[in-house]
Amino acid sequence: MSKILIKNIKSLLQAGEDLPRYKAGAEMENLHTIENAFLAIEDDQIVAYGKMEDWGGITDWRDLEVIDADGRMVMPAFCDSHTHAVFAKTRESEFEDRIKGLTYEEIALKGGGILNSARKLQEMDEEELFQDAMLRLQEMMSYGTGAVEIKSGYGLTVDAELKMLRVIKRLKEESPLTIKATFLGAHAYPPEFKENHQGYIDLIINEMLPVIAEEGLADYIDCFCERNYYSVEEMNQVLEAGIKYGLTPKVHVNQFSIQGGVAAAVQHNALSVDHLEEIDDKDIEALKGSDCMPTLLPGCSFFLSIPFGAGRKLIDNGLPVALATDFNPGSSPSGNMQLLTSFACVKMKLTPNEALTATTLNTAYAMGLDQTHGSITLGKKANLIITKPMESPALIPYSFGANSAETIIINGKKVN
Ligand code: NIG
Ligand code: FE
Repeated sequence: MSKILIKNIKSLLQAGEDLPRYKAGAEMENLHTIENAFLAIEDDQIVAYGKMEDWGGITDWRDLEVIDADGRMVMPAFCDSHTHAVFAKTRESEFEDRIKGLTYEEIALKGGGILNSARKLQEMDEEELFQDAMLRLQEMMSYGTGAVEIKSGYGLTVDAELKMLRVIKRLKEESPLTIKATFLGAHAYPPEFKENHQGYIDLIINEMLPVIAEEGLADYIDCFCERNYYSVEEMNQVLEAGIKYGLTPKVHVNQFSIQGGVAAAVQHNALSVDHLEEIDDKDIEALKGSDCMPTLLPGCSFFLSIPFGAGRKLIDNGLPVALATDFNPGSSPSGNMQLLTSFACVKMKLTPNEALTATTLNTAYAMGLDQTHGSITLGKKANLIITKPMESPALIPYSFGANSAETIIINGKKVN
């Protein structure tokens, strides 16, 4: 058995036995902090924590590593509940085109964007995709991420979608990170189905989903509900087919326009609705009274120069908010969760505490991991960040672009 004891922790964040599955509204500010604390790990689990004064001392030194946190904070590792971390090639030429004035949507209509990534991925072999994604996951881990959701959606053919999902399955097996897989066959229409949307949807329903279910390749079903992509009716068809195979919806909606996808996703019991750069009062009403997690992706807003999601408004309406990277080569080529907290504070007016709740407990919920991740709770996974010495958790979003994580513990093991 491997054991770690962390003592003299300045503040233990998001710690407790009575935390809700996710925090909403004013509760997001509450970081459930224990000052001057200790935490004990056995194998991959948190087995004890509390105030230093209540610590019983060490009775059994065998295999025990003691870490003196000496003024550092300890928090749950970040959960990144929305990524496209398996992809073939970067798209910096589109980045330059946007700098020169083209919009993301104009580039996509010319065959760039998702279709560009799909062409590249179709040509690349599984091994290379896997190795490249592993490197990305390692970098994400170095910024304190302990769990990642990864989507398909750059295949857009039966073979290439399955190839992507098999890569994700192998990442689940070989990466120390906890990984959830989402089937996003409905990410765009391949050019040959431009005038025959139903033909491609039939392919998703009849050719892709049965194999995905048979091989256990996905946990969630996604769809990009947006003008020039999937209409609400088209999304409904895809989600209903996925649900029949046991996949819970988790969808892309309202990135550029409001189509009514939020209410439709909520009706289909979506676990999360992601993007929401555009939102109206009807969407907010649809979310109220549901357990669907509104997930904002500030990296995408920053990189595409589009509006930032209305995080403040959602929280002020009593709703929860989650924040994820959307790590992908087109709209958000960064997997750094700490940087997102800076964007969320500065551009969405979330407080630092709210941003930290939105990237830990609430994203754990948004990827179906609230029983095991996202907080410091007995029996949960020992996926932890020991910060650099700092006086306040606000220094994480404050120090934008820096890496405030000094030691990363994943499954009870130091990984850096
Ligand atoms: O979440 N919006 C749709 N999909 C991705 C971007 C895809 C791409 O440009 O490659 C997103 O932003
Ligand atoms: Fe996305």
